[in-house]
Amino acid sequence: MTVRKAIFPAAGLGTRFLPVTKAQPKEMLPLVDKPTIQYGVEEAIASGIEQVIMVTGGGKRAIVDHFDRSVDLEHYLQERDRPDLLEILASVDQLSDRVDITYIQQKEPRGLGNAVWTARRLVEGEPCAVLLADDVIICEQRPVLKQLIDTHSKTGATVLAVRRIPREQVGRYGVIATSSSNGRVHEVTDMIEKPSPGSEPSDLAMLGRYVILPAVMEELGQTEPGAGKEIQLTDAIKRTIGRHRVVALEFEGDYYDTGTVAGYLRANLTMAMKREGLREELAPLLKELLEG
Ligand code: G1P
Repeated sequence: MTVRKAIFPAAGLGTRFLPVTKAQPKEMLPLVDKPTIQYGVEEAIASGIEQVIMVTGGGKRAIVDHFDRSVDLEHYLQERDRPDLLEILASVDQLSDRVDITYIQQKEPRGLGNAVWTARRLVEGEPCAVLLADDVIICEQRPVLKQLIDTHSKTGATVLAVRRIPREQVGRYGVIATSSSNGRVHEVTDMIEKPSPGSEPSDLAMLGRYVILPAVMEELGQTEPGAGKEIQLTDAIKRTIGRHRVVALEFEGDYYDTGTVAGYLRANLTMAMKREGLREELAPLLKELLEG
């Protein structure tokens, strides 16, 4: 079965970014000049997704407005004859023509697993994608979600995006244990959310992209709170191992963790330096700052 739907958990309070997230969703913080969540929606569309399900909490109105048409702004720009800016607006408007964006509220912040479970009825028993927009993954060719969907088509398995991370950092992630491997695809035998130092089963960390089988959704309804006293997606996937195949794909692409202030700034700097027009202006400044 093809993967048609993608769940975007976007209900977090963004406390790591206070005060900027006091009245603004963290998903709307820009990477250069585009909100972080837009990168995820563009990736989903480029991967063939037909429906994006945003699981939001309170105070996320700006996300809805961003993907909606702004007729006032269009009139304003038309009157001032700014086709260049109208083109930028149109590029965002076109996203919601190419994919249906549905919003559903997570009533309480009970963790990633609970956010995904909130979307269960909209998913209608199909295998579906889960995309954590904090993890921005830029691919020259095939988008990372498409890489996962292709792996799912070949294996029929639940598929996790993984990358090797320095051992001292894996405690921030969900980490997998594997048996056999076929190129970049590993059979998953166990997984643990945020392992304590020394107990990590490998250096392969999960990085915010999943294709999950319906069995995972069923398990989520029965999963008790785990690490951080939250209902963990990792725990529900783990409970399907043995009955259903779970594989991990070491994806290709540039990974940016925008979920911390340092990671967010790194992503902005790196992307700005890759942008023609900004690079020329920023390079001398960065050099000066470093030398000074
Ligand atoms: C979540 C997942 C974790 C994964 C991580 C990737 O954790 O629970 O398994 O490795 O995203 O960013 P969070 O960052 O929400 O604590």
